[in-house]
Amino acid sequence: MNKANMVKIGRNDLCLCGSGKKYKKCCMNAEKDQKSLKQEYKDKYNIILKEPYQIEGIKKSGLLLLSILDKVEKMIEPGITTNMINDLVHEEHVRAGAIPAPLNYRGFPKSVCTSVNEVICHGIPGDLILNDGDIINVDITPILKNYYADASKTFFVGTPLEDAQKVVYIAKESLKRGINVVKPGATIGDIGFAIQDYAESSGCSVVREFIGHGVGIEFHEQPQVLHYGNKGDGIMLVPGMVFTIEPMVNLGSKELHVLDDNWTAVTNDKSLSAQFEQTILVTETGYESLTPFEL
Ligand code: MF3
Ligand code: CO
Ligand code: CO
Repeated sequence: MNKANMVKIGRNDLCLCGSGKKYKKCCMNAEKDQKSLKQEYKDKYNIILKEPYQIEGIKKSGLLLLSILDKVEKMIEPGITTNMINDLVHEEHVRAGAIPAPLNYRGFPKSVCTSVNEVICHGIPGDLILNDGDIINVDITPILKNYYADASKTFFVGTPLEDAQKVVYIAKESLKRGINVVKPGATIGDIGFAIQDYAESSGCSVVREFIGHGVGIEFHEQPQVLHYGNKGDGIMLVPGMVFTIEPMVNLGSKELHVLDDNWTAVTNDKSLSAQFEQTILVTETGYESLTPFEL
């Protein structure tokens, strides 16, 4: 904070915004509203509305994330193992002075999630060799200067088959449609509806067991962001909210089970599953992605 910011304005002083009006007739109420909204969302929902300096921190973490995701994309080809992706992701975090949030998170043993074909999410990197025609989701969450950003993409390995193209396209478009409804006054249910309506009408299914989440100060914060639901349901979006949207879309049915490793979630019918994820900020007029990539 600089000195100017530390001067306390009196109610009858001229407002610092330059309007020429008294502070009490100008920005004082807006600031109060913002404070009470922040308190209300904390008390009611345990949601932390972010301050501008915190948003800056999350954004920087997001830029690092995107740079690592680009490097991953360049290395993906038939013959590499998911461990090789883990090594690259881990080293890039260290090089940037960041920590990979997945490592040791509730016992997760690696620095990134790599989910191949019928794996929905939380795939653990290992000796698995990628083959031509596979799809792989790579989900990265850096902690940079204590700020978390969370995003993922699904990549084709070599030349995709038609099924792979379909499920990846629909997962990507689902995220795009979910993001596009984000603005103050919309609700969590509006996001879920946009995603479910599109994915199901395209002949795919939406996973229920894993959901988007508040993010930034912690890995998983409130609110829970369902990828299904009804318009108007759930918490109202307000500026300063930061959360992920990360729909998992299956080519077949939505049913899943978790393998003996207690992490890897796979489709019961072995159908392909794809996912894209971004960290989204609610702004005064709409949204801003803090992990922006083209959808
Ligand atoms: N990145 C995942 C998410 O989008 C969470 C992974 S938890 C881990 O929420 F432990 F598997 F890394
Ligand atoms: Co997430
Ligand atoms: Co993630």
